[in-house]
Amino acid sequence: MVFFPIERMIQLLIFILPAYVANAAPVVFGTGASKMPIDFRIKFIDRKRLLGGGKTWPGFFVGILSGTIVAAITSQLMPFYPAMDMHISVGFMLSLGTMVGDTLGSFIKRRFDIKHGKPAFLLDQLAFLLVAIAFVLPWRPEFLDWAGFAFLLIATVVLHSCSNVLAHRLGLKKVPW
Ligand code: CTP
Ligand code: MG
Repeated sequence: MVFFPIERMIQLLIFILPAYVANAAPVVFGTGASKMPIDFRIKFIDRKRLLGGGKTWPGFFVGILSGTIVAAITSQLMPFYPAMDMHISVGFMLSLGTMVGDTLGSFIKRRFDIKHGKPAFLLDQLAFLLVAIAFVLPWRPEFLDWAGFAFLLIATVVLHSCSNVLAHRLGLKKVPW
């Protein structure tokens, strides 16, 4: 990482923060106890749940709201940190993309017969990130080039794994993934 200055890493992490917060918020706020699954318990043609019990409407909206609030805060950093490139509407798109990607990830997991809550390495970590970034491509900041993208892929796998172990230790998640 000699060619990748630390300021650039921080810049990328602050940019993607709304997506991380949107992804974590349903766990932190414990929305899973809700009886409002996104798929309304509908089954797909393979007779398995469309999305499963881990994806709820309150979780979906809590994620979007939390991520957008974080973007409202980080966008205020610009006067102090001119390299920061965030606008609340971009943060909203990052958060929306995160929740859509997370839902899509569950759809794929169910098709492969992976029960909700069971791990799917890389899909769990990256589905939300890829869709979040896809949703903001038209407003992509200069620093989010291929190298920046590669950094975020690696950083997200590492941070996602660490944060889930932490959430497990804190009693927020039953499983450490
Ligand atoms: N959650 C929610 N609504 C969402 C996303 C997440 O209520 N739209 C809550 C659920 O309690 C879920 C928990 O956050 O169990 C953890 O999210 P995640 O790991 O994404 O879901 P899993 O339960 O692992 O389900 P899946 O296998 O479908 O990813
Ligand atoms: Mg999970």
